[in-house]
Amino acid sequence: MQSKFAILAAFVAAAAAAVCPLDQLGGLTVVTNSVSPLQTRWDVFTVNSGAVNVGDVGWFRNNQPNGNEVFKAQAVGTSGHFTFTRRGGQDIGVSGTTAGSRLIASTTTATFNVNCGSCFQASGNAVAAENCGIQLVNGDGTLSNLCVNFQSDAVARLLECNDSNSNQNILIFSAP
Ligand SMILES: *[C@@H]1O[C@H](CO)[C@@H](O)[C@H](O)[C@H]1NC(C)=O
Repeated sequence: MQSKFAILAAFVAAAAAAVCPLDQLGGLTVVTNSVSPLQTRWDVFTVNSGAVNVGDVGWFRNNQPNGNEVFKAQAVGTSGHFTFTRRGGQDIGVSGTTAGSRLIASTTTATFNVNCGSCFQASGNAVAAENCGIQLVNGDGTLSNLCVNFQSDAVARLLECNDSNSNQNILIFSAP
């Protein structure tokens, strides 16, 4: 039994090990895999809406991306580490470095480690990466064990990374 578990664990780890060239996409949207159809994505809010305030990165359902939802990824340092900028707009940071901290538009850019199950050549509105986890990288370059989590009708928050939590399963779509 023990060896079967070890093999299974190795497969799971391998399945989430791809670094996708997100920085080569002219634009991208960050979509949760936990809501069907796959249209619920990061949106930098420009108005207060319920629990989401101006500047928060909220989860917002939209069929086609609008300007607030299209991001650019920049590769930084270590392979798999990226920063995100709203295309033509603000950098994305975090409100803190503890579980429950929010993703926000910020002048202090956060670095994330993005590991995906698969990468695809994509243009237009198409999946460029799937089964991704987006983990905050600490200021010293170590991994935080805090991952971007989906919560319905709410801001994007960091929670302890958990590969079994479907709310942390994220897709990256290319955006025209
Ligand atoms: C990870 O997520 C699964 C599925 O939601 C849950 O059952 C499990 O309790 C979580 N593990 C931890 C350590 O939170």
